[in-house]
Amino acid sequence: MMNRIEAALTDALARGESGAPPMLTNALRYAVFPGGARVRPQLCLAVAAAHGAEVHALAEAMACGLELAHCASLVHDDLPCFDNAELRRGRPSVHRAFGESLAVLTGDALIVLAFEALAQAASTAPERLAPLVLILSGALGSHRGLIAGQAWESEASVPLEQYHRAKTGALFVAATTGGAVAAGHDPLPWRAVGEQIGAAYQIADDLLDALATAEQAGKPVRQDAALGRPSATSLLGVQGAVERLRSHVEQAVDAVPLCPGEGALRALVRQMAERLVPSSLQQSAA
Ligand code: IPE
Ligand code: IPE
Ligand code: MG
Ligand code: MG
Repeated sequence: MMNRIEAALTDALARGESGAPPMLTNALRYAVFPGGARVRPQLCLAVAAAHGAEVHALAEAMACGLELAHCASLVHDDLPCFDNAELRRGRPSVHRAFGESLAVLTGDALIVLAFEALAQAASTAPERLAPLVLILSGALGSHRGLIAGQAWESEASVPLEQYHRAKTGALFVAATTGGAVAAGHDPLPWRAVGEQIGAAYQIADDLLDALATAEQAGKPVRQDAALGRPSATSLLGVQGAVERLRSHVEQAVDAVPLCPGEGALRALVRQMAERLVPSSLQQSAA
């Protein structure tokens, strides 16, 4: 599954490279490769595969679009005007390596490439393109998507669950519902699965921020406290956050709807969850 994701990302970047400014080309590659955990595209492909038929080209394009948009969000999130982070995935963040202007443009370009990847695959099932575009734009948008999530940080008071749902959950919902639509199935039963995994994932990220070293995390830590962001650990304490995380994982597993691959999908959700809070961190929490 990982090979398909890396290949689709490579193709998506290569399409726009001919004649492009070399520094921008390098920054785009740097932002996408080597990747992190690639959880969102894996989840999207797994949901598509759970419906039984062979994974459709559109599922691959959706997976690719989700990851490109996610990489864009990290590039922008690290900028001095947001989290001012020097480190991402264990090396200098894009603005540290290429400068702020190119980092802004790299994030913008990755979002454009995400939609381009979808359109490129549309001829195989044109009637599925518009719903997929709406799923992706909803996940990124200013209403309840990632942009809304980042914008909550500019408000005087930030409702934690709404903030998490928008900045992180929305893209996970797009991964599960997008996987279903790309496979030609009803997205609705998959919403709750994405919501619960997304909630678990952001709590895990807050725990990482509170407990890990920068070396373990590959990015700066103690940022939530330093930047005054609401976080699951500040609201619930470490133990409370771990319990909330586990409860979201159980609810995600329970929410998997009836389909040919439901057993495999439940196993994947559990496997993803296991990697969320490394046992070493749980011990340091105790
Ligand atoms: C980090 O996401 C930001 C969050 C939304 C929690 P990931 O932990 O998926 O980042 P990578 O892609 O693996 O680096
Ligand atoms: C996560 O934001 C969601 C994004 C929009 C990138 P964070 O600021 O919490 O993520 P990290 O910890 O920098 O990866
Ligand atoms: Mg942030
Ligand atoms: Mg950040």
